[in-house]
Amino acid sequence: MYRFILLLVSLNLGTTLCASESSPENVIDSAKLYPSTPEPEPASQIIENTISHLESVAATAAKLAREGILPTDETQKHYDQMVETLAELIEMVKDQNNAYKFHKAKGIDRIIFHNMDIPYSRLRGPLLVLLKVLFEVVPTTTDAIIPISTIDKLLDIFENDDNLAMKAHALDILYIWLPENPKAQVRVMKLKGLEPFYHQVSKLDTSVISILLDLFNTILEEHIKVRNVDKQMTKADSDKIQLYRRIGLLERMSTPAVCNGLMKIFENTWSYVTDDNDVIGPVLDLVKNIKPYCMKVLRGQTKATELFQAILDYVQDGNKKEYLENLNVNITDMKTVLEDFIRELKYTVKDEF
Ligand SMILES: *[C@@H]1O[C@H](CO)[C@@H](O)[C@H](O)[C@H]1NC(C)=O
Repeated sequence: MYRFILLLVSLNLGTTLCASESSPENVIDSAKLYPSTPEPEPASQIIENTISHLESVAATAAKLAREGILPTDETQKHYDQMVETLAELIEMVKDQNNAYKFHKAKGIDRIIFHNMDIPYSRLRGPLLVLLKVLFEVVPTTTDAIIPISTIDKLLDIFENDDNLAMKAHALDILYIWLPENPKAQVRVMKLKGLEPFYHQVSKLDTSVISILLDLFNTILEEHIKVRNVDKQMTKADSDKIQLYRRIGLLERMSTPAVCNGLMKIFENTWSYVTDDNDVIGPVLDLVKNIKPYCMKVLRGQTKATELFQAILDYVQDGNKKEYLENLNVNITDMKTVLEDFIRELKYTVKDEF
């Protein structure tokens, strides 16, 4: 119901905005100046035509692929035809009015949702970029309209597409879609949990890892904040907390699977840290965020202690001071967190003995 109302509101907004585009003055002026100029095709018609065109090329290609009449690269030639049109469409929907019109014409269903399954990067790339632009330009409407199972497809691309750029596009979309969106988060956790994320780390480059860690930190902080809401909550608050409970992220955070997976991320990422890629920023945030949850699991792990010691040495290195401050790292605070972490990790080894 909520989604439906959002949909109505957004469509209405689209029409209103559209109506305000041509003020009467402009119409009169141009009519006087250029009496024979034909009316330009309205944007909604252009968008409808573009979508229909893409739809029919995609249908032809899919039919060829199904029937296996032509070799794959012949089918791909059809997909290549779509690329230029998609590039035009991407430019168009950067305008908010056009993005609403795209949604009104059910563009996601008609050209994105099914075609994003096709494992052909030349086509998949622009489809993902189109979706990303829609999420950037009209996030609320896009979230309200998009089939939730698009998340499954994005995760599948993130896990299984060998093309790093496709993984990065999929992650960029999740980066906009998941925060403050428990419904979408539930879907991710039910489907795959966090496993795909740390399994992929060794295959990603540092800029993508930064985004991944940043997303993880954002969502983790969101869950911590929601759980800390004081007792005087409204019904809406309590419904929201209920949803967050269902995700159970904080419960999972303390499990060996997650903590050891995160250690893998740290180990992998640490070997990439340079002053050029700034990946140290999200790494430090994550160390801080997981400390209350992963201490128990990581206790006695020499590898973990060594890694945190190496990170501590880095943070304390006078040569890095200015660099870290430029990244908004609170060095004093980070030092305390790491020293604490290391002490407690070691402490229990002796304790157990
Ligand atoms: C850094 O963190 C410490 C301890 O958490 C805090 O007291 C201090 O105000 C912080 N400094 C800045 C510049 O935020």
